Amino acid sequence: MVKLCKKLIVKEDYDRSARHYDRRYSKIQGVKFNMVSNYLPESGLLFDLGSGTALILKCKKLRRLRYIGIDISPEMTKIALKKHHFYKNFIIGDVEHLPLRDGPAENICSFTVLQNLEEQACFIKEVRRIIAANGVVILSALKKSLNLERVKAILDENHFKIDKIVETPSSEDMGLIIFSI
Ligand SMILES: C[S@@+](CC[C@H](N)C(=O)[O-])C[C@H]1O[C@@H](n2cnc3c(N)ncnc32)[C@H](O)[C@@H]1O
Repeated sequence: MVKLCKKLIVKEDYDRSARHYDRRYSKIQGVKFNMVSNYLPESGLLFDLGSGTALILKCKKLRRLRYIGIDISPEMTKIALKKHHFYKNFIIGDVEHLPLRDGPAENICSFTVLQNLEEQACFIKEVRRIIAANGVVILSALKKSLNLERVKAILDENHFKIDKIVETPSSEDMGLIIFSI
C-alpha cells in the first residue's frame, strides 16, 4: 500500500471539508483574529500563510490592505477567491516551500496552521527568507498541540524573538507576536 505523506493527507482533508469550513469555524477563528487584532496592520501588504478560506478578511481593519493568501488546498482557495475582495490575491502553494522571492514581506500572519505542518522548522526558515527588515509575524497555534519551547528554539535559530504572547480563555489558540532580531 502506498503511504501518503502528511502534507498530501492534510491537503485532501481540507479539500474535502472546504465547503463546510466557514460555517464550522468562522466564530472559532474570529475569536483568534480579535485576540491579536491590535497587532494586525491597516496598510501595506499582508502575507497570510495557510490562508484557508480567508476568514481573516472579515476583519474591517484589513479592508484597505493589500493581501496575499497562500494555501495548499485548492478547494479552500476557491472559496476564498469567490468572496471577491479588493486588492486581495491568492496563491496555491506550500508554506514550507514558499513560491515567493526573498525579502518582500513586511507583515506575515498565520492562523492555526502549525499543527498541520510536516516540518515546523522549514516553515519558520521560509518566513525568515521572505520577511523584510523590521517585519512582524503574527502566529497563532493550537494550545493543545503547541510545543512552545520547541517553537521558541526554532525562532531563536532563525533570529526571531517573541515580543508578546497573547491568550484569552475563549481562544483555543495562543497568539505569538514575533519580531526579527
Ligand atoms: C485550520 S485551517 C486555518 C485556515 C485559516 N488560517 C483560518 O484562520 O481560517 C489550516 C489551513 O492551513 C492549510 N495548510 C496546511 N498545511 C499547509 C501547507 N503545508 N502549506 C500551505 N497551507 C497549508 C490548510 O489547507 C488549511 O487551509
